[in-house]
Amino acid sequence: MTEYEKKITIIKPDDWHVHLRDNKILKKVINYTGKFYARALIMPNLDDPITNCFKSISYRNRILKSMNWNYKFQPLMTCYLTDRTIPEELEIGFLKKIFIAAKLYPYCSTTNSKKGVKKISHITHILERMEKIGMPLLIHGEEVNKSIDIYDREAEFIKNTLDPLRNCFPKLKIVLEHITTKESVEYIKKYGSNYLCATITPHHLILNRNDMFSGGIQPYLYCLPILKKNIHQKALRQAIASGNKHFFLGSDTAPHLHKDKINFFGCAGIFNAPSSLLSYVTIFEEMQALKYLQSFCSENGPKFYNLPINKETITLIKKPLKIKKRISVGNNIIIPFLSGKILNWSLEN
Ligand code: NCD
Ligand code: ZN
Repeated sequence: MTEYEKKITIIKPDDWHVHLRDNKILKKVINYTGKFYARALIMPNLDDPITNCFKSISYRNRILKSMNWNYKFQPLMTCYLTDRTIPEELEIGFLKKIFIAAKLYPYCSTTNSKKGVKKISHITHILERMEKIGMPLLIHGEEVNKSIDIYDREAEFIKNTLDPLRNCFPKLKIVLEHITTKESVEYIKKYGSNYLCATITPHHLILNRNDMFSGGIQPYLYCLPILKKNIHQKALRQAIASGNKHFFLGSDTAPHLHKDKINFFGCAGIFNAPSSLLSYVTIFEEMQALKYLQSFCSENGPKFYNLPINKETITLIKKPLKIKKRISVGNNIIIPFLSGKILNWSLEN
């Protein structure tokens, strides 16, 4: 990594947690990810989830068709696990590189998770197979139960589900996605390895739960896992600033139409693709940890997934950039994270 004054060049990053949706929305959002990242791991929670090889291949083709042909962007696909996932199909998909990983959404934990897994014990045979073939399991780590406070769901998941799961399957490769708490940070610091890593989003690094209610309720800051207290935000910031190799970039960019965000039941999700990389660089700079920017953005992820590190580089310059206020999609709009705000960093050309 070279850094002098106001310019920083790093190996081109990958985003290991991206929601692109489909059709009109896909066409509008894909190039924001393609512009900054060489590869992205595409989440499978479409309205009709990506649960098999056939759906995955056709979704990947739709993604490629929607992209600006200038970008050499590579979408990497994931399989949505259900109680009915067929281990043989998962294995074939993984061996043929149709799937890079499989995603566990606990039932009703987040957007489009109604087909998710009701009980881990329902998928023991699938997890056994994944452990055997070295296929990574990506986890939305929240215990969903009416008796558990929404702010405690992640910590409860670690205790009640993740820890026992790791004991049963010690060689299963696991990514604890979009961690938000000091408990998760401590857990990864203690047990992080080539079998256990975590991703961290820019919004959980920039914000805490106060921000959701500052000046009135801010539906655009509602995401899952929900923003936590500032002690948790601090723990996440310190985790990335420590240079620990078991944390890596996963933006959880999650676009929703304005009409769906602003509704009686507003959707969870923050569309941060236009600013995610620029936010990460700002945070590393604030934490005086720019020396670890490249490993977080471009090295730790590929090492975990046993994929080559990208050959191209990307240069960021310290030049103000205004984030678009809105993006039109047919008769509706999507409001990006940091809409209309000025960032300190931008992409060189
Ligand atoms: C994501 C979405 O909208 O698909 N929402 C979110 O708040 N993060 C799903 C997810 O990753 O939980
Ligand atoms: Zn997500």
